Amino acid sequence: MNNKTTVLTVTPNPAIDLMVTVNEWQMGIVNKGETSYQKIGGKGIQVARVLAEVDKNHQEKIIATGWIGKENYAVFQHYFDKLNIIDGFVHVDGATRTNVKITDKSCNDTTDINFLGLDISEEEQAQFTDKLKKLLKADDLCVLAGSLPHGVPVNFYTKLIAQLRQEGHKVILDTSGKALKNVIESKTFPHIMKPNIYELAEINGKEFATEQEIIDFAKPWFKEGLQMLVVSMGAEGALFISENEVIKVVPPTVKVISTVGAGDAMVAGICYGLLQGLPFVEIAKLATTVSASNISEEKRTVKMPTLVKKLLPQVKVTTI
Ligand SMILES: Nc1ncnc2c1ncn2[C@@H]1O[C@H](COP(=O)(O)OP(=O)(O)OP(=O)(O)O)[C@@H](O)[C@H]1O
Ligand SMILES: [Mg+2]
Repeated sequence: MNNKTTVLTVTPNPAIDLMVTVNEWQMGIVNKGETSYQKIGGKGIQVARVLAEVDKNHQEKIIATGWIGKENYAVFQHYFDKLNIIDGFVHVDGATRTNVKITDKSCNDTTDINFLGLDISEEEQAQFTDKLKKLLKADDLCVLAGSLPHGVPVNFYTKLIAQLRQEGHKVILDTSGKALKNVIESKTFPHIMKPNIYELAEINGKEFATEQEIIDFAKPWFKEGLQMLVVSMGAEGALFISENEVIKVVPPTVKVISTVGAGDAMVAGICYGLLQGLPFVEIAKLATTVSASNISEEKRTVKMPTLVKKLLPQVKVTTI
């Protein structure tokens, strides 16, 4: 991949996240809120944001696309402008959803309340297809991330992966539930997938008892075009699996502000590694570092590229 590559992130169902902190959060009582602020959410948008932050002098174009509501678009516009992200969204009637994320300061656990989002008509889906044609060149890096809004069929990612691969683009998928299941059952794999361990266990129908079970479960997918499977496991790290290599990467201990978006940051780190042409192990280490940096308390004072450099040597890699 060269430095003129376009990175295009698809967020079919973006969101504004209302971030709330409380101390010792309890259900069924009146909790005293400590802080609250609005944050731009949506997985693909967050991948674009982290990539723009880590790769400060990025030469590649970072484009965010999907469907976005006209009613509360202004906050997104400001965000994209600030980060030098190109807005490739189809703007539709209505408001983008607002999700609620409650972080308990006493233990750093986060409770999420996610809404379904906009209802996307067939016409708006056709507009997205037209838009993609205009946005993409050749040999671009496409990140498909998050849930699907109402109206968009469950095989949306499956069809998009087939189209993008056929056109010669590199494709990374980070989704869950029925959309992920459809991709796996159709055997239309992207180059890279990053489910977390719960999302993969849901596809498996039961929890994995060992890491070997995960490796065996995914093995046939590498014959169907998958090149890298990243199974993230929160603070425990992640398994990076390719056809011939399996490594476990454990992040350094960081002071966590909120784990929301750790996975999105990991995907951004993978993109950053790919753009730099790094080998498998180095991509794994970099992605782990970027995700740990992104959730770290130090991010308030230390700029992202500096933080990444500081944490990288502390990442532990084991070959399995
Ligand atoms: N507490 C933590 N400390 C350090 N690194 C962490 C921590 N939590 C997550 N990470 C890093 O982030 C990666 C992704 O985390 P996780 O498995 O929680 O993703 P996820 O569930 O997909 O997150 P989301 O979808 O909310 O963005 C982990 O593999 C790890 O490298
Ligand atoms: Mg995730």
